[in-house]
Amino acid sequence: MTASPDDRSRDRAVDASAVDDPAPHPHATEAEVEAALKDTKLAQVLYHDWEAETYDEKWSISYDERCIDYARGRFDAVAGDQPLPYERALELGCGTGFFLLNLMQGGVAKTGSVTDLSPGMVKVALRNAENLGLPVDGRVADAETIPYEDDTFDLVVGHAVLHHIPDVEQSLREVLRVLKPGGRFVFAGEPTTVGNFYARWLGRLTWEATTRITRLPALADWRRPQAELDESSRAAALEAVVDLHTFDPTDLEKIAESAGAVEVHAETEEFAAALLGWPVRTFEAAVPEGKLGWGWARFAFGAWKNLSWVDENVLKHVVPRGLFYNVMITGVKPGK
Ligand SMILES: C[S@@+](CC[C@H](N)C(=O)[O-])C[C@H]1O[C@@H](n2cnc3c(N)ncnc32)[C@H](O)[C@@H]1O
Repeated sequence: MTASPDDRSRDRAVDASAVDDPAPHPHATEAEVEAALKDTKLAQVLYHDWEAETYDEKWSISYDERCIDYARGRFDAVAGDQPLPYERALELGCGTGFFLLNLMQGGVAKTGSVTDLSPGMVKVALRNAENLGLPVDGRVADAETIPYEDDTFDLVVGHAVLHHIPDVEQSLREVLRVLKPGGRFVFAGEPTTVGNFYARWLGRLTWEATTRITRLPALADWRRPQAELDESSRAAALEAVVDLHTFDPTDLEKIAESAGAVEVHAETEEFAAALLGWPVRTFEAAVPEGKLGWGWARFAFGAWKNLSWVDENVLKHVVPRGLFYNVMITGVKPGK
C-alpha cells in the first residue's frame, strides 16, 4: 500500500523526534534569565522557547494564502528568476516554520527540514507541518554548526534569523557546506541598521502608550493581566541579548562573498510599511490575546500591503536602500 502524504509527514515527524534533541523549556526562572543576560545562546533558547506556543498569534502568522503570498513575495524579490521547485530545502532559525512551510505551499520546494536552536520552536514547526500534510522533518540545530552532511540541500532559507547569530560569516560558511554545488540560499526579514533604529523607537513608544492607557478603568478589558505584562518585561530584557546585529546591505553582501558565495545580491524593502508595521505589531502584543481577532489582522495586513506597494513603486526610486527596514540576501554555492 502506498503511504499518503499525511502518513509520510507523520512518519518523518516521528523520525525527527527519535533524534536526541533537548526538550522545550517554556517557563524560564528569574535566575535563568539572569544567567542568560551573559549568554546569548541560552537567551535565544529561553526567549524563543517562551514565545513558541504563542508566536503565530503574536506575529499574525498563518499558513494560508496571506502568508504564502508574503513568503513567496520575499523569495521572489531576490531569487524570483529561478526554476522551481527545489527538491530539498533546509530552514535555519525556522521558528514556527513560517517561511519554509509557506514557501513549500507556494511551490518553492518539495521536501523540507526545519531547524532552530529553540526546541520549543522546532516542536511547533513540526506540528504545523504535520497539520498541513507537508513532508518535513526537523532538528534542534545551531546555525553556526549545522548538523547535516556536506552537499545535502538544494536550497537553504531563513527569515529573521541572521541578526541573532553571533558569527554570521561562520553560519554562511556552514550554509555553503550543506548546500549542493549550484545550490542557493535566501535569507529575508533582516533589519537594516537605520530601519532598526526607527523601528525600536516606534515599538517602545507604542508599548508605553498602550500599557499606560489601558490602566484606565474604562479600558480594563484591553489590559493584559499584570503577570503576563511582567513576563513580557522579563522577556523584553532578553531581547537586547538575542538581537545581535543590524545590517548595512552592502556589508551583508561582503560577508556572504567572504564566506565563499557567488552571485550574491541583497535587496531592501519596507519603509512606509515599516513605519506602520512596528506600532501595529507592538500594539497587538500589548493587548490581551485574541482581543483583536482576524478582522484586525486582515485590516493590518491590507494597510501593510498598500504601503508596501508605495514603497516598491514610489519610494524605492527615491529613498537610499539602507533606509528601508528589511534586507534580504541571496547567493549560490560555487562549483556546478
Ligand atoms: C525572530 S525568530 C524568527 C523565526 C521564523 N524564522 C520567523 O520568521 O517567524 C528567530 C529564530 O532564530 C532562532 N535562532 C536564534 N539563534 C539561532 C542560532 N544560532 N541557530 C539557529 N537558530 C537560531 C530563534 O530560536 C528563533 O526561533
